[in-house]
Amino acid sequence: MRIVGILLAAIMLAAPAANAASPIVIKYSHVVAENTPKGQSANKFKELVEQRLPGKVVVEVFPNSQLFDDDKVMEAMLLGDVQLAAPSLSKFDSYTKKLQVFDLPFIFDNIEAVDKFQQGPIGQKLLNSMEDKGIVGLGYIHNGMKQLSAHSPLRVPEDAAGKKFRIQASDVLQAQFEALKAVPVKKPFSEVFTLLQTKAIDGQENSWSNIYSQKFYEVQEYITESDHGALDYMVVSTDEFWNGLPDDIRKEVKAALDESIAYGNKIAADLNQADKQRIIDSGRSQVIELTPEQRAKWVEVMKPVWKKFEKDIGKDVIDAAAATSGAS
Ligand code: LMR
Repeated sequence: MRIVGILLAAIMLAAPAANAASPIVIKYSHVVAENTPKGQSANKFKELVEQRLPGKVVVEVFPNSQLFDDDKVMEAMLLGDVQLAAPSLSKFDSYTKKLQVFDLPFIFDNIEAVDKFQQGPIGQKLLNSMEDKGIVGLGYIHNGMKQLSAHSPLRVPEDAAGKKFRIQASDVLQAQFEALKAVPVKKPFSEVFTLLQTKAIDGQENSWSNIYSQKFYEVQEYITESDHGALDYMVVSTDEFWNGLPDDIRKEVKAALDESIAYGNKIAADLNQADKQRIIDSGRSQVIELTPEQRAKWVEVMKPVWKKFEKDIGKDVIDAAAATSGAS
């Protein structure tokens, strides 16, 4: 008995010491390829943290939905299975309605306008929009403007009518395709290539870097350069994990995260342009440029979606976002 007691006491004493010595592990899960703005930013974060906090913090990055799909990662994070994620701003619908502003069609002319809004007072406040769910927003990573791809050419809104489009889990995106009289289908990112290849769906919307790195252009004959919406991300963690970090560690990790976000944002535009060119050079997909008249038709059909979501998002938020592009 006595020996067992001594052994137990020894184990109990040893346990905290072992914990204190083992590094904090940050699992960072995302769904895109490594050669994308988000993929590059996540890798940079790992590099910086492990350089500056050797032995104290280890970052494990899981790209390409390796660990969790986009429809599972938020739950997994809240359960403590991952500590960082950066879902697209379209994927927070069940946690807050405020971020729906980012999905409104034609509200931002370009990513510079998105950035301006995010860095302004409302954009910064939106980082806290999921506080009541125990989620902290740590920053925004850019990707690029979305383009429409399909098996058939899309030049005017009528071309999309009756066609099935894969969308992210967003009610705004659903309304956007319904406005076109198309059929939106909410599906995880990891399934899109197969859905397109098997023609289970007709098209999808995404940035050039995603269309290139996921090889969508190999299974979509046409890509319309519509720039109709933004694809951007919020880096999130849980309040429990983030605020449970020792102060000095959290400060260093946040500095590394800010730098990695700035790095991803700096390369985002060039990467998207280069991927657009790679798609054109491949000859696999025809890139359609819209005339100003054709573009005006897409705006006319899609823009009424704003009104539908005004109550949930708030008119002040919509007005501030639109003002960054002078599109109000
Ligand atoms: C998508 O699901 O289409 C994209 O949001 C994926 C991503 O994270 O860029």
